[in-house]
Amino acid sequence: MYKNWNELEEACNNCKKCRLCNSRTKVVIGTGNKNAKIMFIGEGPGADEDSQGIPFVGKAGQLMNKAFEGIGIKREDVYITNIVKCRPPQNRNPEKEEAQSCKEYLDTQIKLINPEIIILLGSVALKNILGEEYGITASRGKWFEKDGKKILPTFHPAALLRDETKKIYFWQDLKMLTKINI
Ligand code: URA
Repeated sequence: MYKNWNELEEACNNCKKCRLCNSRTKVVIGTGNKNAKIMFIGEGPGADEDSQGIPFVGKAGQLMNKAFEGIGIKREDVYITNIVKCRPPQNRNPEKEEAQSCKEYLDTQIKLINPEIIILLGSVALKNILGEEYGITASRGKWFEKDGKKILPTFHPAALLRDETKKIYFWQDLKMLTKINI
């Protein structure tokens, strides 16, 4: 574990723990409020994120921003990151060893932010945080608890781009957050 944000950012930016370092342009550490009550965890950077160094700025991110606006969540009030901080080539799923190499960074982010609620965006985040046995369709919209944090899995915004019928569920899940004083 890293003691503070400076140590964490320095380690991430120089990271060579897995082979994703060979093809990355920028390390995508995270964005938002470092004292957020709500933290969002996606899968890994795509092409737009890799070139800008900011998570969820591509098509999926724009869709997530729209949902945020619709339900009154401000992107700058929450913290957004990913399971892996470097882009997997061709946007493939991160491999187990890659997620494992990156885990210390995510664990440090969770410790430093200490959010009340963690939203898991999609299957990769779900399986890495709660366990391989969980499936996103059965788990989305349900609350779990782990290490004193409330955990809510929902669909990955990219899944909504592929299948519009999932939008309503994503929306419903995020709407639960409006009851919380963010
Ligand atoms: N998909 C993700 O999982 N994370 C991003 O940052 C962008 C797209």
